[in-house]
Amino acid sequence: MDNEREVDQATRRAFFDQVRRHTGIAMSERKWTLLEGRLRRRVRELALPGYRDYLHVLEAKPEEVRDFIDLVTTNETSFFRTPRIWEYFAGQFLPRWFETHGGTPLRVWSAAASSGEEAYTVAMLCEEFRERHPAFRYRILATDIGDAILRKAAAAHYQGRSIEGLRQTHPDLLARYFSATDDGFVAAPALRANVTFRKHNLHEAARDIGTMDVTLLRNVLIYFDAAGQQAVLENVRRAMAPDGVLIVGESESLSRFDMGFAFEQPLIYRNEVRP
Ligand SMILES: C[S@@+](CC[C@H](N)C(=O)[O-])C[C@H]1O[C@@H](n2cnc3c(N)ncnc32)[C@H](O)[C@@H]1O
Repeated sequence: MDNEREVDQATRRAFFDQVRRHTGIAMSERKWTLLEGRLRRRVRELALPGYRDYLHVLEAKPEEVRDFIDLVTTNETSFFRTPRIWEYFAGQFLPRWFETHGGTPLRVWSAAASSGEEAYTVAMLCEEFRERHPAFRYRILATDIGDAILRKAAAAHYQGRSIEGLRQTHPDLLARYFSATDDGFVAAPALRANVTFRKHNLHEAARDIGTMDVTLLRNVLIYFDAAGQQAVLENVRRAMAPDGVLIVGESESLSRFDMGFAFEQPLIYRNEVRP
């Protein structure tokens, strides 16, 4: 098999093109070491002589694209990631929403859901709110481009760092909404009942997504270039209710885009566009 030095620039470029074509993720030469590390295992698994042969497999076998996408995406996430967002959601957004909408179901979209911690964080906070306001209703749609990570999310089975993080920050919620298994913890049926997982590429029109009151688009824009970010934001906005709230990740900002999202608070925007 090729070693790193033997992978020529044309081959590296061809891989970057494949990544962009299938995910919209923009990678530059600086990312080759990262990408090469991820590809190496697959090239060995398929017993291919080198990376160029894997490019041929990608062209010849469309089903390999699924594994390729799983390989090249970064799925880092955690429960209650960026605590300020969750303080806003539970402390400001939900009470205001319930006051103005009553029992109309709140529609939340976790738009790059990874292994599901974000969606189940929303579900835990909504369940807690419903305890105090039984008329409150909600539905969560969680989407991602990766098949393997979506299967993990739907299984709702967590171990290691993920569970340790939740135990440290919210031991009460861990006890209430998860039960122990032989090798981890699984989310309670009450949480899972309100979350639907579906494959969706943010670069494609969000026609079958519906209309969302809250969209979490966190820690995914950073992987796209400016044109890609703009295209994704336009797709996402078309799937949002007027006055719907968009929440982005800690190192993401919409300040350079002028497309109808009004700044509310850092990381939190409101859809100003009327149909
Ligand atoms: C770093 S994780 C962020 C997870 C979660 N939103 C968070 O903030 O903790 C980024 C996720 O975006 C997904 N992703 C990357 N490109 C995508 C695309 N074009 N469409 C949908 N999801 C994508 C990846 O598969 C990955 O699970």
